[in-house]
Amino acid sequence: MGSNALEIKPIAGALGAEIGGVDLADPLDDVTFQQIHRALLDNGVIFFRDQRITPDQQLAFAKRWGDIHLHPHIQGLDGTPEVFEIVKKEDDVHTLGGEWHTDQMFTATPVRATMLYAKQVPPQGGDTLFANAYLAYDTLSDGMKAMLAGLRTVNSYNMKKKRAAAMQVNDANEAPPDAEHPLIRTHNETGRKALYISYEGITKRLAGMTDAESAPLLGYRRQHATRPEFTCRFRWEEGSLAVWDNRCVQHLAINDYHGYRRVMHRVTVNGEPTS
Ligand code: SIN
Repeated sequence: MGSNALEIKPIAGALGAEIGGVDLADPLDDVTFQQIHRALLDNGVIFFRDQRITPDQQLAFAKRWGDIHLHPHIQGLDGTPEVFEIVKKEDDVHTLGGEWHTDQMFTATPVRATMLYAKQVPPQGGDTLFANAYLAYDTLSDGMKAMLAGLRTVNSYNMKKKRAAAMQVNDANEAPPDAEHPLIRTHNETGRKALYISYEGITKRLAGMTDAESAPLLGYRRQHATRPEFTCRFRWEEGSLAVWDNRCVQHLAINDYHGYRRVMHRVTVNGEPTS
């Protein structure tokens, strides 16, 4: 098929853009995919609305970014194990991803991109927040940038993570070993520096320091990284699809829709060693 004329509209000053003019159920030609990929690099997170896609079609789109990552503890769908369901039922208390985080930082090569597709959404609530980690770095003082350069974080899989009871998890698998990453990460495609961090359940401490020594430094970084002016907020509708770049974006699922069911399909794309 021929290339599409894409409409790319930013949704906030810091990051995030909605893309119109494309039907993700169709295979994408290379020119269109390159435009979408460019939009992801420029905006950190991109959104599509009114998509009607099957798990196989979502997987085919995700594969344009690279090989697919299989979560060590969350079971995928029957027939499409690369796609897993994030489900929170009417009476579930917890949700997956309810803290600011960067996906799969507990692995040596954390996932590059995450793709989330809305199957069922509450009438209100259940939005997702995103934060621009380049801005979190750019707005530090020169003194702070110099102090943080060279620091590394220790990241663990959180076996006690709070998730909705309805999620298909397999915690019998052994947790992956701790992974170290630079606190200031250089994006391997854009060359820009970003503050690379997750909540305290994943990013445990700074390498070579105790928990107590690390806590004030990491706590301040977390607070700074999610200042409102570094964020955008996405209101999901059935058929919305988001793709975000975990190398430069944190996110948080807002748990404010008790009494309603929310069902999402998630796929993640393998990343590379961090530097
Ligand atoms: C996640 O952290 O991947 C879940 C985000 C969401 O459900 O909005």
